[in-house]
Parts: sequence; C-alpha cells; structure tokens
Amino acid sequence: MYPIIEVEALNDEVTRMVIEAPAIAKKIRPGQFIMLRIDEEGERIPLTMNDCDAQAGTVTIIFQAVGATTAKLAKMKAGDSLLDFAGPLGNPTELEGAKRACVIGGGLGTAIAFPQAKWLHEHGVEVDVITGFRTEDLIILEDEINENSSRQIIMTDDGSNGNKGLVTQALQQRIDEGADYDLVLAVGPVIMMKFVAATTKPYGIKTLVSMNPLMIDGTGMCGGCRVKVGDEYLHACVDGPDFDGHLVDYDDAMRRGVQYRSFENAAREANEG
Ligand code: FES
Repeated sequence: MYPIIEVEALNDEVTRMVIEAPAIAKKIRPGQFIMLRIDEEGERIPLTMNDCDAQAGTVTIIFQAVGATTAKLAKMKAGDSLLDFAGPLGNPTELEGAKRACVIGGGLGTAIAFPQAKWLHEHGVEVDVITGFRTEDLIILEDEINENSSRQIIMTDDGSNGNKGLVTQALQQRIDEGADYDLVLAVGPVIMMKFVAATTKPYGIKTLVSMNPLMIDGTGMCGGCRVKVGDEYLHACVDGPDFDGHLVDYDDAMRRGVQYRSFENAAREANEG
C-alpha cells in the first residue's frame, strides 16, 4: 500500500497529492508517469509526476477530477492509502543540451510541465515559462514557477489576470522580441500543442509535446495509447510520452481524445449511478 501524506486543493477542480513511494521517488525523472489504482475495484490511471523528493521518499501528483477515478481520488485524505502506485513509466523528457528553453503549460498541463522547468532552471538553462488558463481562479503553481524559471508569463482566456490571450501569442511575442530558444516544450490540450508546434516550425525550433492519450496497461501491450507521429503509430506509454511536435498528427490525436472523454464520462456515470 502507498500512504497519502498530504492533500491540497489548488482550486475547485485541481488537487495536489503527495504519496509515499520511496523506490519511485529515487528513480523518477521529469516527463515520466506512474499508474495508480485506488483499490481492488478501481481502474488503473496514468498520472504524470509533478515533483518528487528522493530523500523524503515522496512523489507529488496533481490531477483534475474529470473522470470516475480522479473524482474518487480527490475525495481521499492524508492517512488513506492507494493499492497500486507503479512506475516510473515512459521516457524522461530529453532536456540535456538546451541553453534557452521555453516551457509552455496549458491548464493542468502546467503541473506536468513544471518538473521540466525546474530541472532546466537547476541546470543553469535560461527558461521562460508561459502558462494559459481559462480564468484567474484556475491559475496554479505561480509561486513555484517564479522560483524555478527566468521569466513567467501567465495568459488567461478571459483576461481576468490582466493578460488576455493565448499561450501561442505570448510565445510569438517572445520570439519577436529576440528570445533565441533552442527548445520549446508544450504540455496541455492537443489543440494548444498543435498551435505551439505551428508557431515554432517556421523558426526550426526543436519542439517537444507531451501526449496523454487513453492508457490502459502503460506497458505497450494494449495499443490504446497509439499516437501518429510522421508515418508511424507509436505508443505514448513506451515510446513517449514526449514526441517531436512537428511530426505529431494532432487531428488524429483529437479524434482519439473524444473517444477518451466518452469513456471517462461513461465510467463516471456508472460510478455515480
Ligand atoms: Fe497500452 Fe500504451 S497504454 S499500449
């Protein structure tokens, strides 16, 4: 069993949870994920690491209650335990060699992008972080990103934080201002990653996107997480989750995303009914 050490609601929709998992905390790297299962009846869900503390033996996850399992998870308290917490899975994000990076997080993707920004900052890379949220109340990790970046730009759809617009507008503005990025990493809704990649492509900036499709086994066996990259289908769980942003077929991924949401909604309804 894996004890829950700390639970914190970051806003009405998003929860941060610290789990005791010493073996994973020693090994996990930015970009990797874990599969958890709450109890015997529960489904396995993948969640990407937000932070870890090898000394304390803890792994932090941040999730939104969008489906049956995450809704149940959000109701758990410190002192409760999870049945399974397996990992690390997937490949760490390739961050070595970057000198000027821009990390972009859309909504909850900010939680997944945070460890990469922190790693880059700790390794002396100049890193800008651009995040986007629907509205000011949903902004997360503002203080943590301030401490772990050279510059933070927060955009909101409704302008409630005084900075209305899309992350791609902020990215374009930074490029126009002369930010000489050699790496852009985007984590968030597929449509956002599509337009980030379209923004960087004319400049030939290396762009990684973190794909988060439906995952069932997390080991390359079920085929549920296939992503079309160039001419081939790759598995997000074993080949990713990061892929070359200029090669991903986003329209194909969005079609699969709709299937994922229907599945999650069905699971939630079954749970509530
Ligand atoms: Fe089954 Fe990737 S989750 S193949």
